[in-house]
Amino acid sequence: MSLSLSADQPAVPDDADDGVWLECIDCGETFAPFDDVRYTCDDCDSLLEVRYADLPTFDDFEGQGVWRYADALPFESGVSIQEGATPLYEAPRLEEAIGVEALRIKHEGMNPTGSFKDRGMTVGVKVAEELGVGRLACASTGNTSAALAAYGSRGGMETLVLLPAGKVAAGKIAQASLHGARILEVDGNFDACLDIVQELAGQGEAYLLNSLNPFRLEGQKTIGLEILEGFLADYDAVPDRIVLPVGNAGNTSALYKAFRELVQAGELEEDDVPKLTGVQAEGAAPMVEAVENGADEVRRWEDVETRATAIRIGNPVNAPKALPGIRETGGTAVAVSDEEITEAQRDIAAEGIGVEPASATSVAGLRKLRAEGIVDDDERVACLTTGHLLKDPDAAAAAGSDPEPVPADTQGILASLASESSSDR
Ligand code: F0G
Repeated sequence: MSLSLSADQPAVPDDADDGVWLECIDCGETFAPFDDVRYTCDDCDSLLEVRYADLPTFDDFEGQGVWRYADALPFESGVSIQEGATPLYEAPRLEEAIGVEALRIKHEGMNPTGSFKDRGMTVGVKVAEELGVGRLACASTGNTSAALAAYGSRGGMETLVLLPAGKVAAGKIAQASLHGARILEVDGNFDACLDIVQELAGQGEAYLLNSLNPFRLEGQKTIGLEILEGFLADYDAVPDRIVLPVGNAGNTSALYKAFRELVQAGELEEDDVPKLTGVQAEGAAPMVEAVENGADEVRRWEDVETRATAIRIGNPVNAPKALPGIRETGGTAVAVSDEEITEAQRDIAAEGIGVEPASATSVAGLRKLRAEGIVDDDERVACLTTGHLLKDPDAAAAAGSDPEPVPADTQGILASLASESSSDR
C-alpha cells in the first residue's frame, strides 16, 4: 500500500521527468508530472501524489524558508514571496495549564499572506508557470484565495476565486481584492464552490490550485520538516504529537507524506513519527466522525456551521490521504465547540500570539484530549496555528475586550481607570 509508513521507495517509471512523477494513491497508475494538466487519476479518478526517485536527508537542506527543502520538492525554486521559516513559539503558561512535557506553537499566520497556504502556492504557481497556463482558480473559505491572489499576481497570472457568500472573514476578502483576484461570491457553501471550480478546471477554464492539486501539498510538507528540525534543535528529538486544524485535510496529508518520505530515506524511525492529531469544529466534523467510527471513507456533511469559518467544510477532499496518516501514526481526531475555540483563541492571545479561530482549534483539541487522558503528561507536542488573528478581525474583536469611551482629559481617564473594567470577560 503506497500510503503505508513502511512502504518501500517505488521503482522509477518511464513517465518520470528528472526523477519526478505523479502516482495514483489507489491504482498506482503513473503519469508524467508536467506534460498535461491533471489533478486526479485518469483511470480511477482517485487522488494523485508526487513521487521522487531520490529522497533527501536532513543534511541536504540548506537556506531558509520553504525553498530550504528544495531537495524534497519538484523544483529548485518557485514563485516566492519568502514563505516559510515561521516561528515555533514557546507557550509556557499554556503548557503548564494543559499539562504536557512541552508545548510549542508553530504559527503559520506569520507567512507573507498570513496563512500556511503560501507554502503550497509558491510550488503550485511555479507548476502553473511550467504548464504555461494563464488563469488560476480556487474555491476558498478565504485563506487560499488570499494566497492565490498574491502568488498569482506575483507570477503575472490572472486569478479567479469562488467564495461562499457571507461566510468569509473580512481580512481575507480584502487581500484577494487588493491583490487583484476576480472574486465570485457564490450562493452556496465552500463544498459547492469546490464542486464548481473543479468543473471549470476540468473544462480547461483555469488551473486549479485547491489542495486537491498534489503539487500544493508538496509545499505544505515543509511545515512538518520545519517542526521536526525545530524540535531536533531544541529537544534533540522529534515531537511525540502534532495537533492541527482540519478542513480539507490537506495539511494532515502533507505532513504525513513528509514523514513517510523521511522514513523511506532512513532519516526517521517508524516508531518516532509524530502522532498526527486532527481537530475540527463540532459543526463541521466529518473527519472526526470517520476516525471515531473506524470508517475508511468520510461521509459528506451537507450542512456545516462554525465560527471558525476557515474550516467550515463538510467534504474533506484529501480524506483518502489523511485517514491513513492519522491511523498509521497512532494519532486521532477530535471535535471542539465554538466556545472552546474562542477560549483557546484567548489563551493563545494571552501568550502574545494572535491567531484566527480555526487556528485555535489545535490548542482547544489538545486541551480536550489531555483532559480525557488520550494525550499523556509526558508528551512533547506541537500545535499548528494556521492563520493570523488579523484575518478575521470581527472574530478577534468579539472574543476580546470592548473599547471604553472616555473623556479627552486626564482626570476623566483616571476616574475611568479607577472604576471596574467594562470588559465582560
Ligand atoms: N486553518 C485555516 C486558517 C485554513 O484556512 C484552513 C483551510 C485550514 C485550517 C484547514 O486546512 O484544508 O489543510 O485541512 N482553508 C481553506 C481555504 C479551505 O480555502 O482557505 P486543511
